[in-house]
Amino acid sequence: MTANKIAPLNTADGQALYKKAQKLIPGGTQLLSKRPEMFAPGVWPPYYNKAKGAEVIDLDGNKLIDMSICGVGATVLGYADADVDRAVKTAIDAGSMATLNCYEEVDLADLLVEVHPWADMARFSRSGGEAMAIAVRIARARTDRQVIAFCGYHGWHDWYLSANLADDGTLDGHLLPGLKPRGVPQELKGMMQPFHYNDAKSLKKIATKHHEKLAAIVMEPARNAPAPGFLSAVRQIADETGAVLIFDEITAGFRLATGGIHLTLGIEPDIAVFAKALGNGYPVSAIIGRERVMSTAQDTFISSTAWTERIGPTAAIATIRKHRKEGVPDHLVRIGKRVMSGWAKAAKGAGIEIEVSGIPPLAQFAFKAPSTDNVRTLFTQLMLDRGYLAKNTFYAMYAHTDAHIDGYNAACAETFEIIASALRSNKVEGLLRGPGAHRSFQRLT
Ligand SMILES: Cc1ncc(COP(=O)(O)O)c(C=O)c1O
Repeated sequence: MTANKIAPLNTADGQALYKKAQKLIPGGTQLLSKRPEMFAPGVWPPYYNKAKGAEVIDLDGNKLIDMSICGVGATVLGYADADVDRAVKTAIDAGSMATLNCYEEVDLADLLVEVHPWADMARFSRSGGEAMAIAVRIARARTDRQVIAFCGYHGWHDWYLSANLADDGTLDGHLLPGLKPRGVPQELKGMMQPFHYNDAKSLKKIATKHHEKLAAIVMEPARNAPAPGFLSAVRQIADETGAVLIFDEITAGFRLATGGIHLTLGIEPDIAVFAKALGNGYPVSAIIGRERVMSTAQDTFISSTAWTERIGPTAAIATIRKHRKEGVPDHLVRIGKRVMSGWAKAAKGAGIEIEVSGIPPLAQFAFKAPSTDNVRTLFTQLMLDRGYLAKNTFYAMYAHTDAHIDGYNAACAETFEIIASALRSNKVEGLLRGPGAHRSFQRLT
């Protein structure tokens, strides 16, 4: 039994506003991953009115349970978490901005260094991409070198997008196929050297070729399980070349541990970068690291007014404290595992082949069927009709309950049956109420 009555979702008000937005805002929205085209064009509700726990009320008044990317991974505790919001409201009442600094940034630095004993210092910013740009600047300043060996996605800034100057297919396996580096200075060409996750040899090749020029190795420590010995080989290459090892924990952090996923893997970087879950959705990001590396931030210029407001660090402190006190990672893993086995069971029952991957709190599946974009879109459309925001990726939140998962798994079983039957009769496209979804990020990390 599914939790909700089954009916095509009416999102007319939302669709009308999104049409207007596309004329006023290039791209319609600020984040590629939040474009309705990434889910089910013309069907997916583009806007929300209210979000609480795991529930969202869209602009048309539809009440939906979020079993998708849940604030794009930012709201690890759940929407409008009462404890984080209470702390934030207190901070607002006390004045969120002043000429003087907010003391909370010192408390947050203290807390992050306590959680990551290898680190000595922290800087703060407000988004993931800018925090990565800061980390790379520090690494380049520290080493007086310019080449970056990288793997995976790390934001929109010039240092990263310059990877596609040499060949605009460089990022295909790391981010989106065909990203154009228009507007990025040609002079950055050749600075970015891609390697593949779980392939230490490809990194070693870069290290050998660029030994004296390698400023940093930039990667997510894990999105799937690292192969035995891979991360220690990366650490060794960083040590041998003198490159700064930067772990991007923007999405992987706060899923398997309170703090970086690297805490569970036994490898220490020189810098780790956090955003998203750090503030449970309030804008805050952190660059933490060893003193010998972080102190170089003083030898270059890294400074911004918005990084000094009070809400970000206040939210981060409240999030970390609750995360640690309530053992949030255990819940995320248990919920994620239930979802992953729900997909596998639903697929088996319907006779569909899927591939399930990721760590349980950041899980995904891929349909192994022809016309996969349309199949994925049909899944989203059918789940919307049953009251769920869903795609082939699920980011677990502390607010997800077993009752949510029971209903969701039952709805998946139903929709997989419908998809199987549509595939057999070649009717997938005919069932869609809009075009197929655009391709999402393809991560190899
Ligand atoms: C691993 C990783 N790095 C960097 C970013 C960029 O962070 P933001 O969107 O906050 O700029 C993301 C966002 O998805 C990410 O997953």
